[in-house]
Amino acid sequence: MSDDDERSSIANSWFWSLCCRVLKAGHIPKHAAFIMDGNRRFAKKMQYERQQGHVLGFEKLAETLDWCLHLGIKEVTVYAFSVDNFKRSKEEVEGLMELARQKFSQVLQKREFIMKHGIRVRVLGDHSLLPKDVLEQVARVVTMSRDNNNAFLNVCFAYSSQHEMTEAVKRMATGIEEGLLQPSDITEDLLEQCLYTEDSPPPDLLIRTSGEVRLSDFLLWQSSYSCLSFQDVLWPEFSVWNLFSAILQYQKNYKSISEAKATFLTQRRNNQLEVDRNYLLQNDTSLAHPHELDTKISELEHTREKRQREFLAHLHHKQQTYLESFVH
Ligand code: FPP
Repeated sequence: MSDDDERSSIANSWFWSLCCRVLKAGHIPKHAAFIMDGNRRFAKKMQYERQQGHVLGFEKLAETLDWCLHLGIKEVTVYAFSVDNFKRSKEEVEGLMELARQKFSQVLQKREFIMKHGIRVRVLGDHSLLPKDVLEQVARVVTMSRDNNNAFLNVCFAYSSQHEMTEAVKRMATGIEEGLLQPSDITEDLLEQCLYTEDSPPPDLLIRTSGEVRLSDFLLWQSSYSCLSFQDVLWPEFSVWNLFSAILQYQKNYKSISEAKATFLTQRRNNQLEVDRNYLLQNDTSLAHPHELDTKISELEHTREKRQREFLAHLHHKQQTYLESFVH
């Protein structure tokens, strides 16, 4: 039986359908993120070559995406290669880049499937760190699928959260230097939009395999209100039952997480209002009466949002043009 046959036989079995139906009676995460950890330990355990661990890791990823699609999880983000991974041996880094070349090339060959299902593939990370030929493939995959919006696959490649946040701050600083932004335009909302994940919603569920219970610089900003599930299997051993168990954990914690998230968003809005109020009281000399404050805050918000929108459109255009320059 081929891998594809095996996957579809699981997906077609009555037991699978039953489990899916039971799970779908509850909340299904819209966005799941994965730290696919344990490929090398798996290779060692099975006495395989290290590269074989990564190859099997990729196969597990393909299988997992299939399960997610069946379950109605519309967005998946995976940690495929961290900025720190560049420090691994030259041979291992080259092995992972070669795997990326092969897999991105297969994605390009699956154009029909990707367009039919409306899947948008994004590659999130510092593209300037990638070898040119890998970047060319990334650019082709991203450009090909950029107008799709039915399902989203975000491959974090040359990615690390602290690097991402630093880049976001640099982007905003450049915006100020270029006169597109004012210092008072820097808000948590704007910083969030300047991350590689842009307007992608934060993950509802974040799963890490291999028994390690840390985030290792992955989606630190975005995962504040995610349900974290640490599964005690190496990534190539990850099974549909591990996924089900993580979703059950998400369902069990759904109410408390949703409430905490809503409170956080209200607090963020209130904090910003407080900052704006203090800013106007200290800086706006035209403010004759305190009752004018609300109108002035609305005006400030309006002009700020307009500048932020234009800045983000400029940023988006710049990134798109950069990627397009690698598509031949
Ligand atoms: C972590 O296990 C996994 C990685 C660093 C690479 C993950 C990559 C894939 C699963 C497939 C590659 C995907 C693309 C798009 C090319 P580890 O190597 O840290 O293993 P260990 O924790 O046992 O040392």
